Amino acid sequence: MKQPSLKTPLVLVNLKCYTESIGIGAHRIGRAAREVMDESGVTIGIAPLYTDIHPINHHYGIPVFAQHVDPLEPGAHTGRMPLAAIKSAGAIGSLVNHSEYRLTIADIEKNVSALKGAGLLSCVCSNNIATTAALAALGPDFVAIEPPELIGGTVSVSEANPEVITGSVAVVREINPAVRVLTGAGIHSGKCVKTAVDLGTDGVLLASSVVKAEDPAKVLRDLVSLL
Ligand code: G3P
Repeated sequence: MKQPSLKTPLVLVNLKCYTESIGIGAHRIGRAAREVMDESGVTIGIAPLYTDIHPINHHYGIPVFAQHVDPLEPGAHTGRMPLAAIKSAGAIGSLVNHSEYRLTIADIEKNVSALKGAGLLSCVCSNNIATTAALAALGPDFVAIEPPELIGGTVSVSEANPEVITGSVAVVREINPAVRVLTGAGIHSGKCVKTAVDLGTDGVLLASSVVKAEDPAKVLRDLVSLL
């Protein structure tokens, strides 16, 4: 099935399960993302909680990803999240293997191919260059390299570990150049995003700097300002 197209560079905001991003909080960020995307022309996606996928897609029309999905056909499963459910809610894809929701390589492979089969995009998270190489071989749409020790902090991967970005970009180009590369962890400014893109990525995956901001539109405006 044909995958949705997504113009890069991409700024993908993972809302995680923060208090600030549940329900009304997700609307606050969705509204800000729509505003800044319209002003700047830069693609801003959001990965909200399942319960906010439909409202965010419906009200703001921005690209929405799930934070995880179960590669299941609809049927007798309880407490799971089938691909068909996120798709019908309006998601265009899903994160897979986030460092806060690790999967086995066999599960990741199943997930990537199920997403592809359902016409949804996969954004598979990775923690280092070796893992990035293994994941690129699975042919996801995006691989997002995020050193776990920098996640949620104020020093970004662009500042603290540019080598992991360039190394990841190099292995992905060698193994499967069709895979697009994102990076994340501690991304908080336009300079962090610009460095990531200058190092060869197709954008960033981030969370706390936007989710915890008093004014998410102000932070998003800064994040896209140098693109
Ligand atoms: O999925 C994004 C993430 O793990 C990075 O989080 O808070 O460092 O931007 P943060």
